[in-house]
Amino acid sequence: MLAEISNLDYKFALMRSIPEQGRGVIARYRDFLPVNDKTPIVSLGEGDTPLIYCLRLSERIGRGCDVFVKNEGVNPTGSFKDRGMTVAVSKAIERGARTLICASTGNTSASAAAYAARAGISCVVILPGGKIATGKLLQAFAYGAKIVAIDGNFDDALRIVRELGERGDFAIVNSINPDRIAGQKTAAFEIVVGIGDAPDFQLLPVGNAGNITAYWNGEYQARQRTVPERKSNGSTKVPAMIGFQAAGAAPIFHNQIIQKPETIASAIRIGNPASWKQARAAIAESHGAIDIVSDEEIIAAQTWLARYEGIFVEPASAAAIAGLFKCCDSNGAAYSFKKIPEQSRIVCTVTGHGLKDPDIIMQRMRELKPVPASVNDVQRAIDL
Ligand code: F0G
Repeated sequence: MLAEISNLDYKFALMRSIPEQGRGVIARYRDFLPVNDKTPIVSLGEGDTPLIYCLRLSERIGRGCDVFVKNEGVNPTGSFKDRGMTVAVSKAIERGARTLICASTGNTSASAAAYAARAGISCVVILPGGKIATGKLLQAFAYGAKIVAIDGNFDDALRIVRELGERGDFAIVNSINPDRIAGQKTAAFEIVVGIGDAPDFQLLPVGNAGNITAYWNGEYQARQRTVPERKSNGSTKVPAMIGFQAAGAAPIFHNQIIQKPETIASAIRIGNPASWKQARAAIAESHGAIDIVSDEEIIAAQTWLARYEGIFVEPASAAAIAGLFKCCDSNGAAYSFKKIPEQSRIVCTVTGHGLKDPDIIMQRMRELKPVPASVNDVQRAIDL
């Protein structure tokens, strides 16, 4: 199998003359990632996701602000995890790994399973039983992972994975693996490139807190002007990092471990985040904030974004949009936007595709009753 992988690498080498876009984050940002000429690159063409200017969202926020949505749901497995997974799996293969392992609320397992399949190695995923969104579980099955559901939550699953990883039989590809964080920071690079500078505010959902850590690492690197596209204008601006946890799963906000985290946003149903300290540092150093949003606010934001901007995201991702509304509307917001400078530039990262977690919207589909197949009946049913 390893022979095939180096063969793949050889083919990539032949393709080096092809422009880097669409070839994955390692091809694009090689110099900023922990790879070398011996690293076999396992990629599915991740990254390079759209940074969408959102007119209605900008109008909703007012004050002449520009709001952009970084749509990470269009990565190869439908979430931002792919950016880190290409690096983590490539490095694992370089070190001779035969089997990957991860704990997951769904997206990490989908991504790990896909990149393992791509590399031709096995993948074990440990999941909280009965708590994984349908689309994500389906992906893990489709990519052929060995799936173990436990009678416990994500935090239990990660504890088990850490122990199994220590025994040396598995390569852990959770975000406790620094290669994951390294790959995920490329989203911050792309935002800087897309806007031409760092935004004023970067809003993100927070679960295990790896992504907010990765973005801040990326921003930090951009500030040191090591990102080539940024060198030209010499800016050293960084955004305030604002993270949002679900109200029932908000350990960082409450500054205490949550034993039984609960939220409809299953991707961020985490009570003891692995990158807690790093997230706190990112928030403090960037003069940002951590805040909470309720499940009702999350669902309302998911619906709003789909209906008014045409961007369908999973509930955890909608936490960033719900958070944006809270910053603008609520007196109780940890970071109020009421006094931010006019024409601020705000980026909300939406982390996963809406089709992954269809259960809530599926309930609305039950209202759909067939009518007779005639123009009159259809016209009556359209009722516009
Ligand atoms: N959004 C989505 C869609 C996620 O899947 C996750 C995390 C997050 C946000 C939070 O990111 O953990 O870096 O703070 N999902 C992990 C998983 C835990 O197992 O798929 P984070």
